[in-house]
Amino acid sequence: MQRSFLRKTALLSFVAMGAALSLMATAQAADSAAGRVTARQCQSCHGMDGLSKLAEAPNLRGQVEDFLVKALHDFKSGARRNEMMDVIAGQLADEDIANVAAYYSALQ
Ligand code: HEC
Repeated sequence: MQRSFLRKTALLSFVAMGAALSLMATAQAADSAAGRVTARQCQSCHGMDGLSKLAEAPNLRGQVEDFLVKALHDFKSGARRNEMMDVIAGQLADEDIANVAAYYSALQ
């Protein structure tokens, strides 16, 4: 009983390690599935569907990917300022930006 539990746990962590490694290998290409996870941080204002929930927040659905990437980098660097977006973008890694931009731009 105990031993099979241990074996399962070892197997699972091995599988998880493989998944992490393959994620690292594909880290260069924008990943909209990973972007969907990041988009949970955006949903209260921009919606999971990219349709704004807040008067001041623009729709992101179907927006041009490069535009989203640039906007997020600009908020992160301070080239573009907005009280809400500065805080959000400051916490995003370049990879998160690429992924979340891929996610929202892919919504039709
Ligand atoms: C607390 C609310 C809030 C959250 C959460 C939020 N945003 Fe925003 N976002 C805004 C507002 C407000 C603006 C408009 C800023 C302006 O007027 O310059 C904006 C603007 C943007 C823009 C610029 C769009 C354009 O048309 O110029 C992008 C891109 C963006 N947000 C992406 C995101 C992403 C991606 C997330 C999640 C990681 C996120 N936002 C989370 C409120 C929010």
